[in-house]
Amino acid sequence: MTRKIIIDTDPGQDDAVAICLALASPELEVLGITCVAGNVPLPLTALNARKVCELAGRPDIKVFAGCDRPLERPLVTAEYVHGKTGLDGIELPAPTMPLQDTNAVEFIIQTLREHPAGSVTLCPLGPLTNIATALQRAPDIAPKIAEIVLMGGAYFEVGNVTPAAEFNIYVDPQAADIVFRSRVPLVVMPLDVTHRALTTRARIEAFRALGTRAGQAVASWTDFYERFDMEKYGSDGAPLHDPCVIAYLLQPALFTGRHVNVTVETGSELTLGMTVADWWYVTDRPANAMFMGQIDADGFYALLTERIARL
Ligand code: RIB
Ligand code: CA
Repeated sequence: MTRKIIIDTDPGQDDAVAICLALASPELEVLGITCVAGNVPLPLTALNARKVCELAGRPDIKVFAGCDRPLERPLVTAEYVHGKTGLDGIELPAPTMPLQDTNAVEFIIQTLREHPAGSVTLCPLGPLTNIATALQRAPDIAPKIAEIVLMGGAYFEVGNVTPAAEFNIYVDPQAADIVFRSRVPLVVMPLDVTHRALTTRARIEAFRALGTRAGQAVASWTDFYERFDMEKYGSDGAPLHDPCVIAYLLQPALFTGRHVNVTVETGSELTLGMTVADWWYVTDRPANAMFMGQIDADGFYALLTERIARL
């Protein structure tokens, strides 16, 4: 039985790899791709998502535009990581597939109302603005969501956009707070995990060696995308964040973590967007998230390469 998912995304090269992984995997039925402002402004994330779908040979996928700014904060983008287009690395043709007329938030609400409870999983790969807006506008959908499997947050790995906060949570901490308080089952892929899934030279060359358009694209995206993190961390490669969400759906045993309370800082300017994980159960705050801490990186890249080869 295929698993029905909605990917909510701000492509972004790592988002693009995650979308390719999902579209290459018959275990998953992508009901739609909803775009949000994050790495780059909304018009670009909505454009990039369609470029990726066409690269993957899936112009049939429904792509929706959602929120163009966070709930309360001004939009913070990350062109310094992803380039001006948000998808620098390889020149892709302008998409011919249309953007859907329905707003992404309405699509999320309608889809959850139309499908049996527990049959649709939400996979946010960017700021949580669309998800939080849907939950605020239609509280009835919360119990219908099977699971939210998201990339975001950090605890032992600390922040990547401030000393305390990871980008997706930092951009819209109010939205993240709504999602983490929603009582929807959460699986969180924080920097604690993604920083253990680095795009080493050998791993990138394995994509290029596929000799396919998709393999070439993934190699070029990761080539471009890794330069910033390698410079910053002095590491051999960059963390491939968002594909961890899709890999979890396909092979959950690649990951280990703990079911703990995770609460989002929304008040302090110093630690705004920090995901405070009660890893040692020192509070009486109820556990609300499976917070991942470890990944089998070789297994992750083997899965990724095998699937990208199918496109
Ligand atoms: O902090 C990493 C996250 O921020 C990833 O989702 C990346 O695409 C950016 O959105
Ligand atoms: Ca992203």
